[in-house]
Parts: sequence; C-alpha cells; structure tokens
Amino acid sequence: MEGGGFVAASKVNIYDGRVTAFVICTCLIAASGGLLFGYDLGISGGVTSMEPFLKKFFPSVLEQQRKASQTENQYCKFDSQLLTLFTSSLYLAALVASFFASIVTRIFGRKISMLAGAVAFLIGSILNGVAMNIGVLIFGRLLLGVGVGFANQSVPVYLSEMAPASIRGALNIGFQMAVTIGILAAGLINYGTAKIEGGWGWRLSLVLAVVPAVVMTAGSYLLPDTPNSILERGQPEKARQMLQKVRGTQHVDAEFQDLLDATEAAKKVDQPWTSILQPRHRPQLVLCILIPFFQQLTGINVVMFYAPVLFKTLGFGDDASLMSAVISGIVNVLATMVSIYSVDKFGRRMLFLEGGAQMFIFQIAIGTMIAVRFGVNGDGDLSRWDANILLLFICAYVAAFAWSWGPLGWLVPSEICPLEIRSAGQGINVAVNMIFTFIIGQVFLSMLCHMKFGLFFFFAGFVVIMTVFVYYFLPETKNVPIEEINQVWKQHWFWGKYIPDEALVGLSRNDEGRDT
Ligand code: BGC
Repeated sequence: MEGGGFVAASKVNIYDGRVTAFVICTCLIAASGGLLFGYDLGISGGVTSMEPFLKKFFPSVLEQQRKASQTENQYCKFDSQLLTLFTSSLYLAALVASFFASIVTRIFGRKISMLAGAVAFLIGSILNGVAMNIGVLIFGRLLLGVGVGFANQSVPVYLSEMAPASIRGALNIGFQMAVTIGILAAGLINYGTAKIEGGWGWRLSLVLAVVPAVVMTAGSYLLPDTPNSILERGQPEKARQMLQKVRGTQHVDAEFQDLLDATEAAKKVDQPWTSILQPRHRPQLVLCILIPFFQQLTGINVVMFYAPVLFKTLGFGDDASLMSAVISGIVNVLATMVSIYSVDKFGRRMLFLEGGAQMFIFQIAIGTMIAVRFGVNGDGDLSRWDANILLLFICAYVAAFAWSWGPLGWLVPSEICPLEIRSAGQGINVAVNMIFTFIIGQVFLSMLCHMKFGLFFFFAGFVVIMTVFVYYFLPETKNVPIEEINQVWKQHWFWGKYIPDEALVGLSRNDEGRDT
C-alpha cells in the first residue's frame, strides 16, 4: 500500500521564474537565524561541565559530583535538577515567546519578528557574559529563549515563502544548516575556553553568542519581507513587485493569483487560533503537534546537550569528552548537507524513512554496547577501542537525524499550512518543540540515572512509532507550490476527507490562467 499518498504533477502549477541570486541571498541571510538556536543548544552542555562555572553558580552540584565519583552508580553523578534548569529554562521562555511571535509574524510581517528575536538574543547574550549572580544568569537565558522563540517561528516560514517550489526544501534547510553550524561553533568554542587559565572561560563561551545575534540583527534589518506577508498586510502592488524581483521575471500572474486567493481565504479568518482547530485544518494541526514531538523523542538532544557529560560519565577524560562532542558536531553539519542535496530530489518521505531506520539501528547498538561494556552500575571499563566504536555509533545516529528529522522537523510544518493558519501552525510547532526540548533537557540526567543504557532503547521505541506514522500519514510535499498545498491533503487516503472542496477553489483555475 502506498501509505503517504502523492500529488499527480498535472494537478499542481509550475510557475514561471528562475532561481535568482536575490532569493538565494535573502534566504542565506534569513537562515542565519538558526545560528541563535544552534549556539544555545551547543554551548550549555560544555559550560555546565566547567568547574569554575559550577563553583560560581552551582556549588552544591559540584559537591554532589565529587561525592558521586566515590559512589557506585556512575550513571547518576551529574543528576541535578537545578543544573538542568539552567539548560532548559531557555526553552520554556522560547515556548511562551513563540505564541507572541506568531501574532507579530502575521500582523507585522516575518521580518519584524526576526528582528525582535535578534535584539532579545543580543541583550540576553551580553547579560549572560557579565552575570555576577544566578538571577542575572537566568534572566539573560530567558531573553535568549525569547530570541529563539521569535527566530524559530519566523525564519522557517520566511524561507518557505521566499523559495520557489522546486528548491523550497533546500533553501528551508538553510535554517537547520545554521543550527548545526551554531552547535558546532559552540562545541569548538567550549573546547578552547575550557582551557583558559583563571576560570573565566565560561564567560567567553556565553558572551560569544553576541556574534550570531549581531549577524541576525543586521541581516533581518536589511531583508525585505515575503510577497505573501506584504500581501497579507494589504499592499498588493508592492507584493507583486517583490514577487517579480524574487522570481526574476515579470510573468508572475499565476503565482500571484495563488497568493491573492490564499490571502482572500486568510482574510475570512480573523482568528487563526480557532481556525486551526476546525476539522478542515485537522491534518495540519495534528502534524504541527506530532512532528516536533517526534523530533524531540528521537532523543537527539541527549547527545546535543549532554554529549560532553555523557562521554564523561562513560569515563572519557575532560578533553576527550569535549573533543567527541566536536566530532559529532562535524558529522551533524556534513549530514545536513546531504539533506539539502536530496530533499527536493528524493522527497521528504524518503529521508524520514531512511533516517528512522538508521537511527533505530544505531540507538540499539549504542544501548547494547553501553550495557555490555560499561555495565549495569557503570562499574565496567570502556577500553579505548570500545570508546571509539561507541563514538562511531553515536555519529551514525547523529548523521541519520541530521538528514531526516533535524531539518524536516522545521521544514515540513512550515510548508504544510495554508496562509491563513501558517503563522499559528508554525507557532504550535515551535511551542511543542520547545516543551519537549525542555522536558528532555530537564529529565535526561535523571533518566540516565534510572534507566541507564535502557534510555537508548526507550528512544529507539519512539523512532519505530514515528517512522510508521510517517509511512502512513505524511504526504509528500516536494515541489508543490506552497499556496497549492491543499491539493496534497485532498488527495491523501486518510486526510482527504477533512478537506472541503471549497479549499481548492482557485487552484485548478490557474491551470488555464498560467501566464506563459
Ligand atoms: C532540533 C534540535 C536539535 C538540533 C540538532 C534541531 O532541528 O530542533 O532540538 O538539537 O536539530 O542539530
């Protein structure tokens, strides 16, 4: 059975236009918003494993670690709710901010949302770098969270709207590419700053977040808004000109007509939040909740946040732990390139399915290896050889995530919603993503303490569920123009019944109205 359904190419418009240097440049600049998120994801694990940082802000945690080194259960030596709260508070703030962001994005445009996020992030990074007490530290982190909430809500939508359908996947994945570069840069910086004499290296790690913040602030100030958003805010002439500029042709009638139809439909909805709850938007609602939920339940952030801590738990030395985090970071970046190359060729479903299978295999391998070599109480010894194999397994798992759920977790929700609920849908996506990033950040160290190596089997079980889900319930959206996305839903074996015929009005007309 063809589980996912597909769209017959003849039903979908292929618009005029080419891939312009203008669209590539704007998308590259906008994608830099992912750096904010990535830098945060990557920096805290390393910082919270630096002794001078713990001594200043979390002395009790340091004490606990010292005691735990002498006790039996090595899996528990880093288990501290207070410490994880530092890491995960950011994601709580991002969660709240994403709802405000979706309102700003719709009413004032994608650009203003990006700018707001960048400025909040800039202030947060400065506060973090100069923090003299835990209050300022946490406040700064909350501001970083606001920045991430705004950026993650607006950037993927911006990219999906600017891009021509044929390379929408690749351009949108620029966001995830920036996320992975941010994570890697953070890993490298931690590696360097941990060695600084005098114990202030952590300050440098935290304050360097100003670099992506400045890039994003300047970038979003310079960027134009998307034609979809300009039109949504009532400026049709300006929107048409922007579309012509972005597509590099005067012949944009068919696409512009789709934008107009989408805007008309959006105007009828004054409350996107209640509209997204209507049966006709059930598929988008379900997917905007489940995709980020599943993305986090792959367990990726166990590796991203806590790679150094995990490696230390397994007996790697300080240096080796930070270095291993850098290695998995490099794999993360390289594997994301694979998805940029393949997402518009082979499609989203194919990457999801392959990535799911590969993640499952290597999670089982990691769990088994830790169980067998490191032991139930963590009293075994990993030889150098074992450690290298383990790192290899972790990298294979990270690579699979990096060309599937990583980028697609941001791409798919941003492209499956019609205009009237796009901002709300992406707001939900970010919020759900952040809740589960928060929960996993918060409970991972306890889970490791209690479930030990079984933790990896737990996540592997989820990977099976999500892969089966994708097979049956996720339609292919490759190469489908964003304002024609309802066609995809209408033709799906399961979701089709939710889409009323009026939702397609205007789309088929364009088959004749195309301006070539
Ligand atoms: C996820 C993050 C994750 C990162 C790893 C992103 O898509 O949302 O939670 O840490 O990928 O590269």
